[in-house]
Amino acid sequence: MSPLRIWLVGFGTVGRWLARTLDAQAGRIASRYGCEPTVVGIANARDGFVYHGRGLDLRSVLAAADSGRPITGQRGARAWPSATEGIRATEADLLVEVTASPSADGEPGLTHMREALRRQIPVVTSNKWPVALHGAELAALARRQGVAFRAESTVMSGTPVLSALTEGLAGAAPTGLRGVLNATANVILSQMADGISYQDALAAAQRAGLAEPDPAADVEGHDSVAKVMILSALVFGRQLSREQVTCRGITGITVREARQAASAGGRLRHVAMLAFAGPDGTGTVTARVQPQAVPAGDPLAGTDGDTCALVFRASPVGQITITGPGAGPHLAGQGTLADIIAVARHQARNP
Ligand SMILES: NC(=O)c1ccc[n+]([C@@H]2O[C@H](COP(=O)([O-])OP(=O)(O)OC[C@H]3O[C@@H](n4cnc5c(N)ncnc54)[C@H](OP(=O)(O)O)[C@@H]3O)[C@@H](O)[C@H]2O)c1
Repeated sequence: MSPLRIWLVGFGTVGRWLARTLDAQAGRIASRYGCEPTVVGIANARDGFVYHGRGLDLRSVLAAADSGRPITGQRGARAWPSATEGIRATEADLLVEVTASPSADGEPGLTHMREALRRQIPVVTSNKWPVALHGAELAALARRQGVAFRAESTVMSGTPVLSALTEGLAGAAPTGLRGVLNATANVILSQMADGISYQDALAAAQRAGLAEPDPAADVEGHDSVAKVMILSALVFGRQLSREQVTCRGITGITVREARQAASAGGRLRHVAMLAFAGPDGTGTVTARVQPQAVPAGDPLAGTDGDTCALVFRASPVGQITITGPGAGPHLAGQGTLADIIAVARHQARNP
């Protein structure tokens, strides 16, 4: 069994979850999937990039990170001041890009991904904005280079959406979708249907660790906008700009509106929608994220709390609904792990 050598770029919540899981489950992954993911490089912003060609001691790097020591001081390893320099100077079979790159330009994640793909090294990422802003370009580059580009956890985290829509429905012609794609906004709207004010519902979500101290990305809809752009690029093959997605957040919603929608058995939901006039992402696009009353019986009405859902339309299959949990570091880690195993299995079949 040949090892799959991984650069793990980004060593925060998701990166460390992956390192712990790859370390703890190495035996199970090898026996169940016939592959041996081996982390040879790890990077964060503070310390830079550390590399050992035969594999890093993950417990030692985790211990350093958890105790605030530099991750670069590993025995027998080499180090570079930045991930980009480390990627350029070393060898691997897969880039796992789990940094947090802002919506302005998707950097530094975008540069890391382009570097790898240009060298015919496949990429797996949980980093939304590089994919939202440049997903079509990255997917096309990967296709030209004959390698994988996978971003499962960028939409609904560990609930498989992108692989289901691009692989499970390969050959079908997608025509549109609607979804509840942000778990935090959905938790807040669900509470408001029970008569709790927006401010109290937000504070409760923050206490539970479901909402960030700065909740703007979730409650103003930017996170859902990114997911609509990712779905457009990777499922429909059409790159959208941010301006093409109309967005209204949930901050102005009143308890009265939420209760009114619930009184008839329906729900007020923060609904993302994407539709094209033609098949396969052609023709005029309609893309928006906005609060909307959905009637009882609509699959989106059944998503209370941190459950997310996506209703997808494609010819000739008709309508397909995917429902599942949409938030949490272990879920983002799980989506990324599934992508890593998919790449490793492919490589094991095509050495
Ligand atoms: N957490 C979730 O539930 C979740 C769910 C879905 C998707 N995601 C996405 O997954 C990604 C990772 O999330 P997270 O929660 O792990 O974020 P995080 O805890 O903030 O960790 C981000 C990591 O990226 C590193 N980083 C930033 N700039 C870098 C650079 N130039 N070179 C190398 N490393 C760099 C940071 O370094 P330092 O440690 O030195 O700061 C940190 O280790 C994000 O894009 C996030 O949006 C997260």
